[in-house]
Amino acid sequence: MGSGEKSNDIKIFVNFDKKISKKKMTKQEVLKILKIQKINLGVSTGSKWLDSGNNFIESFSPIDEKLISKIKQTNEKCFENVIIQAKEAFLFWKKIPAPRRGEIVRQIGDEFRIKKEAISFLVSYETGKIIDEARGEVQEMIDICDFAVGQSRMLYGMTTHSERPGHRLFEQYHPLGIVGIISAFNFPVAVWSWNAMIALVCGDVIVWKPSPKATLCAVAVQKMISSVLKKNNIPEGVVNLISGNAEIGEWLINDKRISLISFTGSTNIGRHVNTVVAARFGKTILELGGNNAIIITPDADLKLAIKSIVFGAVGTAGQRCTSTRRLIIHELIYEKVKNDLLKIYKQLKNKIGNPLEPQTLIGPLVSKDAVINFVNAQKQIISEGGQIIFGGQILKGKDFESECYVIPALAEVKNHFKIVQQETFAPILYLIKYKTFNEAIALQNDVPQGLSSAIFSKNIIETEKFISVEGSDCGIANVNIGTSGAEIGGAFGGEKESGGGRESGSDVWKNYMRRQTCTINSGNDLLLAQGIKFDI
Ligand code: UN1
Repeated sequence: MGSGEKSNDIKIFVNFDKKISKKKMTKQEVLKILKIQKINLGVSTGSKWLDSGNNFIESFSPIDEKLISKIKQTNEKCFENVIIQAKEAFLFWKKIPAPRRGEIVRQIGDEFRIKKEAISFLVSYETGKIIDEARGEVQEMIDICDFAVGQSRMLYGMTTHSERPGHRLFEQYHPLGIVGIISAFNFPVAVWSWNAMIALVCGDVIVWKPSPKATLCAVAVQKMISSVLKKNNIPEGVVNLISGNAEIGEWLINDKRISLISFTGSTNIGRHVNTVVAARFGKTILELGGNNAIIITPDADLKLAIKSIVFGAVGTAGQRCTSTRRLIIHELIYEKVKNDLLKIYKQLKNKIGNPLEPQTLIGPLVSKDAVINFVNAQKQIISEGGQIIFGGQILKGKDFESECYVIPALAEVKNHFKIVQQETFAPILYLIKYKTFNEAIALQNDVPQGLSSAIFSKNIIETEKFISVEGSDCGIANVNIGTSGAEIGGAFGGEKESGGGRESGSDVWKNYMRRQTCTINSGNDLLLAQGIKFDI
């Protein structure tokens, strides 16, 4: 935002509709397009908003710390109503043929396309991510809709040959029921849509609890979907939104009527979700913390590597689960990489600011608490013997309308430091030196998390080893591209304390369905498997 403007007059460049293309819009206009002028909403089942008492979830923009929404927190009675309606809706939805369900998802994708700029604006305004990354996030929603539409015609079962004559043996997939989705602030709409769009084509119904820090984004998206459901006479309750803090999350994870909980968030909370849901034999998809490293070998194309490192480390202000946190650099090129990074980080200082401005590359952290974590992590780095070689300060002054803007930090550390072993959700990049390639792989794997990883090298022996069984132990292993920015087509998720879940593309639809093995006897004899004789 230019200095003279008030926050209500934030301008964005829009091109989502031919009629108003290339026109700048105010925040109020964006809210109108998204039909969310009214705050204080209750919970939503389909298009109907239920009144849910008088406790509010307040969401503040990290751009200027202004209160941007105040949404009613779901109370217990309301929660019960939502689950009952979701159950009823499931009875209807599961009987709709999957390709027809895909057609509804196609229309949802069109709705996202039409309103891409408006929803991107809101994502940027509510979470602080830069507008272009917000557009990328909404593009992920559109992409997963397209993927899910195709998937709706490919929910394949398999047949195999029975050992008994006149018998047919096959597997088929049925919907699970209610899928509870708990999403995080950093990808307030994309990660939800990965789950929701696949679950919908699979015949499941959804109850979504977004991050309290990004409830308004969820309200906007819910409204878009409701309009599509309404147009198609789909009952209330196929797609539901509840709002609230951890207490509401507890209701969701403890409820036996919810077959699958897909949780995105910290390893600590994920551990709790896992325990609670497993105890009631529910299913989980857990997408938890990462501690992602890039190995830079002497053969690396350093120009390529530096670009990827910087995007990975400071993109979304270091608040992606796939953010690059550790650099494992060969000793021969360590000083060169360090100096190149120092040079770029110094220039980046001028690119920190309002994320809605197109020239900004680094927006604010999501909240003051996040800033405190960032500061505390640096204290711990120093107390463990590491060194902050650049950045780490909180930015103040007229260009920064909140206390959430920071200068990304570079730190020299050892991999075994306690602070390095944990995920700090902030832009701190650790520089670690290695001597031998095997040592580099050992360092890369020597953390509790296992989400994303990458290597930069033109040496095929090294790159192949990195993705071999002796290489990276992560769910994502990239060669000559960074750790973040995965496409929706692959399965997304990580090993170890990253949770083991897989979402998004590939064959992950199977996680949203139950598998049934069927044997049909079309003969006149009862033949027992394994040749057992049991004559009566
Ligand atoms: C997340 O941070 O939880 O690969 C998801 C990426 C994005 C998704 C990140 N496509 O960085």
